[in-house]
Amino acid sequence: MLSNTRAKILSIDYRFIRRTIINLCARRPRDLEQAIIIGDRLNSGLMHSPLRNLFKFSIPKNISASLFDLEFPSPIIAASFKDDIDALFQWQLLGLGGITYKTVLKTPSDGNKRPRIQEIQYNSHYGLINSLGLPTKGLEHFVSNFDNKQILSFNRPVGISIGGNSLDEYLDVFNKIHLKVHSLDFKKVFYEINISCPNTQDGKCLSDNLEDLSSLIRAIRSVSSNIVIVKVSPDSNDEEVLNICELLSNFEKCAINVGNTKYISTQSVGLNANEFSEEGGGLSGIALFENTLKRVELVHNNSKIPIIATGGIMDYNQVKAVQDKGAILIGMATQLVNDPFKIPQINTKLSHAF
Ligand SMILES: Cc1cc2nc3c(=O)[nH]c(=O)nc-3n(C[C@H](O)[C@H](O)[C@H](O)COP(=O)(O)O)c2cc1C
Repeated sequence: MLSNTRAKILSIDYRFIRRTIINLCARRPRDLEQAIIIGDRLNSGLMHSPLRNLFKFSIPKNISASLFDLEFPSPIIAASFKDDIDALFQWQLLGLGGITYKTVLKTPSDGNKRPRIQEIQYNSHYGLINSLGLPTKGLEHFVSNFDNKQILSFNRPVGISIGGNSLDEYLDVFNKIHLKVHSLDFKKVFYEINISCPNTQDGKCLSDNLEDLSSLIRAIRSVSSNIVIVKVSPDSNDEEVLNICELLSNFEKCAINVGNTKYISTQSVGLNANEFSEEGGGLSGIALFENTLKRVELVHNNSKIPIIATGGIMDYNQVKAVQDKGAILIGMATQLVNDPFKIPQINTKLSHAF
C-alpha cells in the first residue's frame, strides 16, 4: 500500500517536472527532443546518486509471465525505442519485467533532421509523432557495450531489436550481436526483428518480402535457439499479419509483436513545416490502442503464435484488456516517456486482479 502511494506521489512530481522542462524548451520552433535530452541528463544524475533508491519497487510475485523458456517477473516490458542505459536501468528499478534495446543498425547514423519528435493530439488523444529515422550508434558500439553490468544485474530478459536496409544487413547485425551474446554468461536474451519501418527513406523493409524474412529466421535458427520475435506495423493489413504468423509457425520459439508506430502525416495533426522535418512520421500512444486490441484478438483467434501487445498501452485497463484477449507480454513506449511511475502502479493492480 505504502509503495503504491510512493509511486503515485513520484508520478505527480515527475509529470510536473516533465511539463516544466517541456515548457522551458518550448521555443519556436518547439522541439520535444530538447526536453527529452535534458530529462535524460537529469535522470542520469539521479540514477548515479543515492536518490535512486526512491525508484526501487519490488514486483509482486504473482504477476510473472512466461514466453517459451524465459520468465518475465512482470508482463510489462519496455518496447524497443531507447538505448539510454540509465533510463533502461530506471525502468527496471521501477518494475519492468524486461527491456528491449532500441533497434540496432549496422552503421552509425544520426537519423533524420530535427525537429523529429513532437507531442500531439490525435483524435482528441495525447500521443507522440516521431520520424527519428532510426538514429543509431551502430553495431560496433552496441556490441562493445552490451555487457553493461547495470542492466544485466537485474537478471531479467533483455531484448535486442535488429534492423537493416537489406537482408544482408539484418544478417550482419544479427551475426555480430549473436557472437557477443554467445560469449556471455547472461542467457536471458531474446531477439526482435524490426520489419516495420515507417521512418526509412523509401519506406521499404522486410515486411514487404516474406521470403527474405524466412531466410533471416532460418539463418538465425541455424546458430541460435534464443526466442525470435517479429515486430509488425499497424499499417500492415490483417492478411499480411496472419501470413507472418503462418511463416513463424514453421520455426521454433517465435512470437509476434503487434506492433510498431502507425504512419500519419504532419498535416493531419496540424504541425507546421518548421515543427517537423518530414512530411509524416510514426504515431504512438493511446490512439493506437483500439487497433492493438483488434490485432491481438485476430492473431489469438487464428494462430498459436505467442503475442506481445504493443501500441497505446498506457494504464492497467489496457494491460488487462490485451491480456484477456490473449497477449502474453505487453510492450510500452510512450507511457515510459510520459510517466514511467505507472509501472509499479500497474504491477500492483495486476497482482490484485489474481
Ligand atoms: C521515440 C520513439 C522511438 C522508437 N524507436 C523504435 C525503434 O528503434 N525500433 C522499434 O521497433 N520501434 C520503435 N518505436 C516504436 C515503439 O517501440 C512502439 O512500438 C510504439 O511506440 C507503439 O507503442 P506505444 O504506443 O506504447 O508508444 C519507437 C517509438 C518512439 C515513440
